[in-house]
Amino acid sequence: MNCFSSVVMCLLFIIVDSITYSSVKNNYKEILRYYDSFDTVNSSTTITPIQDQTQAINVTMGMNMYALSGFDAVSGQIEIVGSLQMSWTNEVNLSSINTSTLEIYVMSVDAIWTPSIILVNAIDTVEKVGSSTYRPRYNISTGFVEWNPRVILKAACDPDVTYYPFDRQTCSFIFTPWNYNYDQVTLALSSSTIDTSQYDLNSAWSLVETNAETYISGENYYANFTITIQRQYMYFTINLVMPILLLSAITGFAFLLPAASNERIGFSITCFLAFVVLLQTVMQFLPESSSPMSLLCYYIVVMMMFSSAVCIINIMILRLYKSAERGDDVPKSLKTFVQIIQCTICRRWKESLTTEDKAELNVDWETVGRLLDIFFFIAFLAAQGGFTFLFLLPLGLRS
Ligand SMILES: *[C@@H]1O[C@H](CO)[C@@H](O)[C@H](O)[C@H]1NC(C)=O
Ligand SMILES: *[C@@H]1O[C@H](CO)[C@@H](O)[C@H](O)[C@H]1NC(C)=O
Ligand SMILES: *[C@@H]1O[C@H](CO)[C@@H](O)[C@H](O)[C@H]1NC(C)=O
Ligand SMILES: *[C@@H]1O[C@H](CO)[C@@H](O)[C@H](O)[C@H]1NC(C)=O
Ligand SMILES: *[C@@H]1O[C@H](CO)[C@@H](O)[C@H](O)[C@H]1NC(C)=O
Ligand SMILES: *[C@@H]1O[C@H](CO)[C@@H](O)[C@H](O)[C@H]1NC(C)=O
Repeated sequence: MNCFSSVVMCLLFIIVDSITYSSVKNNYKEILRYYDSFDTVNSSTTITPIQDQTQAINVTMGMNMYALSGFDAVSGQIEIVGSLQMSWTNEVNLSSINTSTLEIYVMSVDAIWTPSIILVNAIDTVEKVGSSTYRPRYNISTGFVEWNPRVILKAACDPDVTYYPFDRQTCSFIFTPWNYNYDQVTLALSSSTIDTSQYDLNSAWSLVETNAETYISGENYYANFTITIQRQYMYFTINLVMPILLLSAITGFAFLLPAASNERIGFSITCFLAFVVLLQTVMQFLPESSSPMSLLCYYIVVMMMFSSAVCIINIMILRLYKSAERGDDVPKSLKTFVQIIQCTICRRWKESLTTEDKAELNVDWETVGRLLDIFFFIAFLAAQGGFTFLFLLPLGLRS
């Protein structure tokens, strides 16, 4: 037993010891010979490395995502840090290679055939992906080549801010071997998702799902890697949505200010202007696009309409109070209106009174003014509350 293991050890030693620099270098030369890389022309690195040139070479792609470095809704860009896994099998004649040396050879990108894959929807580059810093690993027993360059991908992504700040964005990274048609290079995927096992959490966006698929369009094969991200909405809820809701809540209270203090119009205008400021703030975060527009913008505009209506109605009511000072009579139409309101509001506990009785009741300007104040205060509060509920509840429920 002892003797046997020492013989094995010895054999191993011989094999390991005998992989010399020059034998490895010879193999490199042999590999490169098939690409004519020592010629002056170097054209062979563009021929697909398969024996039957009527067939396509099958490149398997995968993607690994390490970080989301940014999503800019205003300019419609997404940037991620990741790596691409590309692999293919070279069918070159390696019969003269000495297989008793190393199995894996790290090659220079320019010395062997590599698929010239580009990111179709890239924003900042038209070059092929994969810097020459990252080198393919060549397995000489099968001709299998693996190339995993790290990449920083900046792609165009059309933002959908309808549900801002509870929005989800879906962005695609579309790759294609630009110079080769689908009958020369085909793409396959190593997985139907993006590998996110080494993904670093982002504080502004959370990763919801990833997807990968291939398709043929026109003459080319495409690989489509998609990521879906969800905005972390807490920051915007506290700093943007809450102020808007609070401001909406106080607009209607203009009706409760004493008419004599002359503060009502100033208060309404201040509310209106505060909405303008909040609208400007929201617009900073949104693209200048009309389709689709953010529901939050519509909400603010409707609230601005409410506050201008508050302003106009208050001017009318203040005129009523002034009429009282002039000692005019309450017009018949206004009396009827007041009666209708009184009837509606107080029907339950004033059932004993008949309409005729009330017509004879003393309806003076003071009563009319106070009644209208209360009526409009409740009406506005209810309308705004109902509108807010209808508008923001579905928005919030998406999160
Ligand atoms: C193949 O490589 C082994 C180990 O480096 C060496 O011993 C052997 O002579 C080589 N064979 C040829 C034909 O070069
Ligand atoms: C051919 O490739 C070699 C090695 O990569 C390089 O040194 C040489 O400049 C290339 N020749 C041409 C004409 O591109
Ligand atoms: C390419 O390779 C993948 C997996 O390696 C395989 O599923 C697919 O059938 C191959 N496609 C072609 C056209 O050979
Ligand atoms: C591979 O190359 C060797 C010599 O380099 C040659 O003898 C052999 O016929 C070739 N095989 C094929 C299938 O072309
Ligand atoms: C090279 O390819 C062979 C055949 O597929 C495989 O058995 C071997 O493990 C590979 N070598 C390495 C270092 O991956
Ligand atoms: C990429 O895939 C996503 C998700 O499947 C899909 O929505 C999108 O339309 C695809 N893009 C293209 C250009 O096919």
